[in-house]
Amino acid sequence: MFNAAVVTCSDKGSRGLRVDTSGEYIKEYLISKKFNVIEKVIITDDLDVIKNKLLYFADEMKVDLIITTGGTGFSPRDNTPEATKEVIKREVPGIGEMLRAESYKVTPRAYLSRGVSGIRNRTLIINLPGSLKAVKENISFLGDVLDHGLKILKLVDTECGT
Ligand code: MTE
Repeated sequence: MFNAAVVTCSDKGSRGLRVDTSGEYIKEYLISKKFNVIEKVIITDDLDVIKNKLLYFADEMKVDLIITTGGTGFSPRDNTPEATKEVIKREVPGIGEMLRAESYKVTPRAYLSRGVSGIRNRTLIINLPGSLKAVKENISFLGDVLDHGLKILKLVDTECGT
């Protein structure tokens, strides 16, 4: 069983001005896929706050997977990709490419998400957009990428197969 953490980046959410339906959806999805979700947090859009939370889950809690939601757009307060880039050691551009390409079939605005994915040590970090609609769609596109990618990252499975 893989451990996971869900990080919602939202100034409004962190002040209790917005219900975190997106983070909750991700958490329930991961639980349905047999992940052990150790924590779901709502934090501000501050770059350092996001960065420190990612470092906490990756380095101290050593979770296998961190999924973030929110803060990937063009607003001056959208800092999630920048914070993620500061902590990852290996980029996984294909996940973002795939999510945007699949999302584009639903909305051309898909390409407004600057979300990135990457690996820090043995932790995979994936940025998703903030809205519940976008989260539901993006999660559905991930398919078995999470399971298969994590098995290789954690050396549970070293063969790619097909
Ligand atoms: N991706 C999917 N699948 N569906 C969506 O509705 N919304 C887009 C994009 N990605 C969307 C999507 C929009 S409108 C924006 S502005 C960006 O995600 C960034 O969202 P964020 O700022 O909430 O992270």
